[in-house]
Amino acid sequence: MGKNKRPQRIGILTAGGDCPGINAAIRGIGKTAIVKYGMEVIGISDGFLGLINKEYLTLTESSLSGILTLGGTILGTSREKPFKNSKNKKEISKPALMIEHYEQLGLDCLVCIGGNGTLKTAHLLSQAGLNIVGIPKTIDNDVWGTDVTFGFDSAVNIATEAIDRLHSTANSHKRIMVIELMGHNAGWLALFSGVAGGGDVILIPEIPYDEDVIKEYLLKRAHENKPYSIVVVAEGIKIPSKEKSSGNYIARKINELTGLETRVTVLGYIQRGGSPSPMDRILASKFGATAANMIASRDFGKMVAQKNGEITSVPLSEVAGKTRLVEQNNDLVVRSREMGTCFGI
Ligand code: F6P
Repeated sequence: MGKNKRPQRIGILTAGGDCPGINAAIRGIGKTAIVKYGMEVIGISDGFLGLINKEYLTLTESSLSGILTLGGTILGTSREKPFKNSKNKKEISKPALMIEHYEQLGLDCLVCIGGNGTLKTAHLLSQAGLNIVGIPKTIDNDVWGTDVTFGFDSAVNIATEAIDRLHSTANSHKRIMVIELMGHNAGWLALFSGVAGGGDVILIPEIPYDEDVIKEYLLKRAHENKPYSIVVVAEGIKIPSKEKSSGNYIARKINELTGLETRVTVLGYIQRGGSPSPMDRILASKFGATAANMIASRDFGKMVAQKNGEITSVPLSEVAGKTRLVEQNNDLVVRSREMGTCFGI
């Protein structure tokens, strides 16, 4: 197509771990593209795998109705990393197949909805000459270049409710309750839900912990007749290499060091499932609609983002390969420490 012509046909794919709000984003892109710009929209199945295998479906205004509140992704997802698993020299490479299929499908742009891995692949496809727009999603909230990703607020709500529920059973039995939360190598989810749920100890990957500090803190609470304590542990904290779960390791250590009765909950995939929170529905809709507007103005090679409350965009080249972690002097960490919360230091 001509370089200045408005895109007519776009593809959307969702890759990496799912999270609440993806369907709201698909709806936001699709409805804006169809209603405002009269574009054709196709959905690529199962992330980059669908582009490799040329598996897709047509999205119409009516097929986009009723998906705003649905969890997961109607398009399916996969953790396929086409630039990584592309070694077989005899076969046509996966990136080459993707480019070929992009052309065959007559796409003028591909929207890639995903986290860090997806956005890295999106950047490589953009470098290879495809018109790409990225949208950040993940419960981990660790995408560089945006203050927030959708999926995070829903996960914080779910994890906070889980912590709330641990308080009463911990109190009844006078126990230490350890809860392990997701977040990959970032502590955002544990930090936010730990603070919202009134965690006494919060351990995140960005702040190296000292087991003796945790021991002294919990024993002091016990001696002050505080009958129970809640310990929130991010899955990504450093633990000995033979250990499999941060929550189980910390719970065992606490019991060994303090003698206090300890139980552990590994919340797992509950954090990613189900309907998005209203905030995530709104953020995902805004991201989706903005992506469609960017496509219409041929503003490619960028990721939609939110900075200081404003919707904006950042070049994929700036995002790719980076992770947004909690800084040591993060305001929430500092304020919580002032209130007596223990971060293991
Ligand atoms: O990135 C989202 C996330 O849920 C992380 O918090 C977690 O570490 C990971 O995905 C789990 O991955 P998988 O879906 O491959 O088990």
